[in-house]
Amino acid sequence: MKANLIIAIGTFSILTIGCTRQQEKEAKIEEKIDALLKQMTFEEKIGQMSQLNSNGNVADYKELIKAGKIGSFLNEINPATINEMQRIAMEESRLKIPILFARDVIHGFKTIFPIPLAQAATWNPLIVEEGGRVAAVEATEVGIRWTFAPMLDITRDPRWGRIAESLGEDPYLASVLGAAMVRGFQGNDLAEPTSMAACMKHFAGYGFVEGGRDYNTTMIPEVVLREVVLPPFKAAVDAGVATAMSSFNEINGVPSTGNSFLLRKVLREEWNFKGFVVSDWASVAEMIVHGYCADEKEAAMKAANAGLDMEMVTPLYAKHLDSLVKEGKVSMKTIDEAVRNILRIKFKLGLFDNPYVKIPQTSKIYSKSHLAAAKEAAIQSAVLLKNEKNLLPLGNQVKSIAIIGPLADAPSDQLGTWTLDGDKNYTQTPLKAIQAEYSNKLNIIYEPTLGYSRDIDGSNFSKAVAAARRADVVLMFLGEESILSGEARCRAEINLPGIQSQLVEEVKKAGKPIVLIIMAGRPLTIEKECILADAVLYAWHPGTMGGPAIADLLFGKAVPSGKLPVTFPKTVGQIPIYYNHKNTGRPPHENLQLIGSIPPGAKQLTMGYVSYYLDAGADPLFPFGYGLSYTTFEYTNLQLSKTELNNPDEITVTCQLKNTGKYEADEIVQLYVRDRVGSLTRPVKELKGFQRIRLKPQESKTVTFTLKTEDLAFWNADMKKVTEPGDFDVWIGPNSKDGLKGSFKVLP
Ligand code: GLC
Repeated sequence: MKANLIIAIGTFSILTIGCTRQQEKEAKIEEKIDALLKQMTFEEKIGQMSQLNSNGNVADYKELIKAGKIGSFLNEINPATINEMQRIAMEESRLKIPILFARDVIHGFKTIFPIPLAQAATWNPLIVEEGGRVAAVEATEVGIRWTFAPMLDITRDPRWGRIAESLGEDPYLASVLGAAMVRGFQGNDLAEPTSMAACMKHFAGYGFVEGGRDYNTTMIPEVVLREVVLPPFKAAVDAGVATAMSSFNEINGVPSTGNSFLLRKVLREEWNFKGFVVSDWASVAEMIVHGYCADEKEAAMKAANAGLDMEMVTPLYAKHLDSLVKEGKVSMKTIDEAVRNILRIKFKLGLFDNPYVKIPQTSKIYSKSHLAAAKEAAIQSAVLLKNEKNLLPLGNQVKSIAIIGPLADAPSDQLGTWTLDGDKNYTQTPLKAIQAEYSNKLNIIYEPTLGYSRDIDGSNFSKAVAAARRADVVLMFLGEESILSGEARCRAEINLPGIQSQLVEEVKKAGKPIVLIIMAGRPLTIEKECILADAVLYAWHPGTMGGPAIADLLFGKAVPSGKLPVTFPKTVGQIPIYYNHKNTGRPPHENLQLIGSIPPGAKQLTMGYVSYYLDAGADPLFPFGYGLSYTTFEYTNLQLSKTELNNPDEITVTCQLKNTGKYEADEIVQLYVRDRVGSLTRPVKELKGFQRIRLKPQESKTVTFTLKTEDLAFWNADMKKVTEPGDFDVWIGPNSKDGLKGSFKVLP
């Protein structure tokens, strides 16, 4: 007892000292900011609020830097140029305020990790944090101290090209992984030379663009904002994210860049965010195009007053804030607050004391450990969607393989979108990896057949079929070029581009087992191809080390563990389709009558009246959270510690998980709840927890989740977050569709 007491007191003291030290550190920074603000001219203040896109020519900016008129550059990655620009600021300007250099380091700087949507399929915060750390170590080597990531836009629309950058459709999963990415980028201390300020983007609602068409309008009721859109951003703020970026879209008629509800009420008043907000590229000026501002001056005024601290690339702040302050339309208090927010991050980054980039003796770029981390991320992000007769992993009985398709050896496309600095010469493709590892054991026949994913020249189909005939197994690497994914890369159809689907049909005629390996930046409507194939591995755009990762998975050196972070629709017409939907008053039942089974001349009243598509039903192709393994897992014996809860209270929910197959493997066990009745209707399921459990063959383990009544809270009509009494269902299972179900009650 006494020992415990001593430990408790000791721990408390250490924590208290730690907090006090942190508070003292922050207080010192505020004092420095106060002192600096007092000395700054108005022009120097506006300079800090201005970010330019570097053209790499220092002479073009020398006078502006000397006059203190530039606070930040984006897209300068030459360390010598960065240091020269910084030298001018630190030695020739009046107040010697360092410049902050930024870059879109979204899923790697040089060593490219799987796209964020793929990283989300790992459901592994450690992998995501490691990816952020590797990116920061490499980018800071050249002087980048600020990245425009993580992108935390929840989206339910795979037509939107930027789904590739997202962490999927679920706010809980995106919250856990987004916070991990912030930690990875920012490290333990922003002042560390390998730390980069992260930037949560795009604040907010960008993933809800109508029609999945980029930059389009969003109409989002506040309850959906608070329930679905904002939680990942709040998690990033709680993780200490240094900056935020306003989004291009308007929400309910007000562009985010001029939206004081978002930038002041939510971000500052409710969340107490202490970082700074940067606009997206020219999004201040685009408020004129939106029709929200009549001219540049009004755009500058509305952005500044809404709480936008720094303007990216357009000069409206520099041109108009002076007159706006003189006319009393923007207060000096607003200006000072914006500058204070920016200076706070520059102080926290240690830029005043260490403004220059120091090229390390030994570069860590493309280091063995970085490549190994990227390979592990690619392994864990791959999702096994089908594996008939356990075709995979390929065993010793396979002596000859045909490798077919435009993505087997596509070093640039394999990297995916937002790989500004990734060098495709370092990409290890599946073809090269398989040849390197297995050409002495296997007869490998390679027939790309198509030059690129959109290719419509079928003249090599016969070669593909001939190759398939000579092989024991056919590996088809299909999917999307990277240019079909990312910003402004939306697709109205999300099938396999070009004539890839026809290629699968042709190769199928050879009568050999087919493994489809899909590389893409979004879910694709591949129902037909999945039927034709015997096994399907969804590798997304897996990055630099995608090849060795896929090779290890195909040949059993690694076992797939990925789970879908986003629902796969059967057809684009089903979109939006997502797991945490409402029940409606007429939910679809099991035996829906589909268009093929409706007799000719059927009378109107002979069919049911529920919510589904005659030609596509109501179920997705694959549900959120879905993913197979080479082994099998059995879920049994769901137990609840109690079935009646007070409020506040908590219960533990457990089940037995057994590896009933023959491979040691990881299973991502998922916990879902449903609030059956609410003062506002509730989703049919909500993810509330997940755990990665590794089991040897025949090993079993009790998996335990703790569920608190606060985890059941939702935003009610009064915009209060409440847990209401009533009946709840809870599931533990392998995905959002299957699992063991229990029920409990929260008492009034
Ligand atoms: C782009 C993107 C944003 C990016 C910024 C800077 O248009 O919307 O995500 O960080 O501009 O490149």
